[in-house]
Amino acid sequence: MNLPDLKAAKKRTDEEVEYVNLDQKYDKNTFANQKYFIRTYGCQMNVHDSEEIAARLESLGFTSTDELENADIVILNTCAIRENAHEKLFGFLGRCKHAKKDKKNMIVGICGCMAQEENVVNEIMTKHKYVDIVFGTHNIHELQDLILKKNKKQEINVYSCEGKVYENVDYKRDSNIKAWVNIQYGCDKFCTYCIVPYTRGKQRSRRSCMIIKEVEDLVKKGYKEVTLLGQNVNAYGKELDDEISFAELLQKVSDTGIPRVRFVTSHPWDFTDEMIDVIAKNDNVMPYIHLPLQSGSSRILKLMGRRYTKEEYLELYKKIREKVKDCSITTDIIVGFPNETEEQFQDTLDVVNICKFDSAFTFIFSPREGTPAAQIDDKVDLKTKEDRLHRLNELINKYSLEANKKYLDKTVKVLIEGPSEKDPNKVFGYTETMKLVNVENAKDKIGEIVDVKITDAKSFSLDGTLV
Ligand code: SAH
Ligand code: SF4
Ligand code: F3S
Repeated sequence: MNLPDLKAAKKRTDEEVEYVNLDQKYDKNTFANQKYFIRTYGCQMNVHDSEEIAARLESLGFTSTDELENADIVILNTCAIRENAHEKLFGFLGRCKHAKKDKKNMIVGICGCMAQEENVVNEIMTKHKYVDIVFGTHNIHELQDLILKKNKKQEINVYSCEGKVYENVDYKRDSNIKAWVNIQYGCDKFCTYCIVPYTRGKQRSRRSCMIIKEVEDLVKKGYKEVTLLGQNVNAYGKELDDEISFAELLQKVSDTGIPRVRFVTSHPWDFTDEMIDVIAKNDNVMPYIHLPLQSGSSRILKLMGRRYTKEEYLELYKKIREKVKDCSITTDIIVGFPNETEEQFQDTLDVVNICKFDSAFTFIFSPREGTPAAQIDDKVDLKTKEDRLHRLNELINKYSLEANKKYLDKTVKVLIEGPSEKDPNKVFGYTETMKLVNVENAKDKIGEIVDVKITDAKSFSLDGTLV
C-alpha cells in the first residue's frame, strides 16, 4: 500500500497552511424530501466529522432518517485503527448493496480514515461498484460538490488536499448541551503501531482566536460543556511559530465562562506543569484526564515510540494526583505488542496496580499495514494475547468498581443530558469526573448541572437521586 510519506514532512509554518473560510451557499431545494443516513465508527474525531457531514447534507435539503433502507443517501464514516474495521465496513456495505436493489438511486458514500487507505479505496472501486462516492478525511468540505457531480452522472475522483485548516465550518451538533471543538487536526507523533498520522495527516492546529470565537458562540447559544478535540491536545500549537501553548489555550477557554471544559486526548510526553496548574485552579476545567499509558514496560514503550518510560509515566501520574483534587484518570492500553514477554506484560499490570485507573480502554495489538510495528516478526500467539487481555480487563474492572464505590452516599454535580436508555423513568448525565450517572426525579432538569446523591455504584455507571 502507498501511504503518503508524511514522516518526510518537516515542521510546518503558518504560511504553509491555508486557512479556508467556508461560506459557500447551496440550494436547499436540490434534494428536498430526500433523506440521509450516517453511520459513524471510530473516535470522537469521526463523531464530530459526522456532525459536519450532516450539516453539509442538510444544506442541500436532505433530512435525517434512522433507517438505512429509507435513505436516499447513506454515508459510512469509517475508522482504521484496528483490523476489525475492515469487517465492519464490508459488512455494512453488504446492507447498502441489498438496500440499493430496491432503491436504485440511493447514493452510497464512504469517508473517514479507511477512505485514506489506498488498498481499501482500490478494493471498493473495483469490487464494490455500487459505492458512489469515496472521500478522505481532508475532503469533507467537498461533499456537496461531490453529490452534485454524482447527480449529473459525472465521474468522481478522490483526492487529498492535506495541509489546509478550514474555518467557519457549519455543524449539525448531536446535542445542544455539550459540543466538540476541534483545536488541531492530524498527529505528528508516529507511534510505531498507529495508523492515525497516515489517515489524518500531520498536525495542524487551528488559530487560538478562531477556537475562542467558536467557544464564545457556543456559550451564547447556551451550551454547558465543550470538549477540546485533538489526537494530541497538549501538543497544540507546537508546529506554529507564534501560537500560545495548550495550557494558555485551556485558560482562555475557561475564561469564556463555559460551565464545563474537557479535552481529549493528552499525550504523557507533552503534559506540562502549567497544564496541571490550569486544571487545578479553574473550577470549570473538569478534573478528568484521559492519559493513555499503552504499556507499562519501558522497553515496549521505546519500541512503540511513545517517548516516556514507565517511571516517567508514574511520576506524571503522581504529580496530577497531588495537584488536582479528586481527579479521575483513565487510560488506553495495548497488550501483545510484537514479542511482548510475560515479564513486560507484568510491568503493565504493575502500573495498573499503582495507578488504579478509573477506567481503561484495552486492546490487543493489531498490525496496521504501512506502520513500522506491523513489519516486526511477532512470535507471540493470539491465545497468549487474549489471555493477557482477559487478565488485564479483570484488574481494570476491579479498580473501576473500587473507584466508583468511593462515590456512594456522596453528593456530586451532574450535567443532565437526556432520558436514560435503560430506564425511561430516569435521566442520565455525567459527573465532573466523567462518571455516567442514571438519575431519579430529575426529568425536568435536562441541560442543567444539578446536585445528585449517589445511591448505587457499578463498574461502568452510578445511580443517583436529585438532592
Ligand atoms: N491519540 C490518542 C489515541 C488515538 S487511537 C493517543 O495517542 O492516545 C486510540 C487508541 O487505540 C490508542 O490509544 C491505542 O491504545 C489504540 N490503538 C491504536 N493503534 C492500535 C493498534 N494498531 N492496535 C491496537 N490498538 C491500537
Ligand atoms: Fe496514534 Fe500515537 Fe498519534 Fe495517538 S499520539 S494518534 S497513538 S500516533
Ligand atoms: Fe479511527 Fe481515524 Fe479516529 S482511525 S480512532 S477514526 S482518527
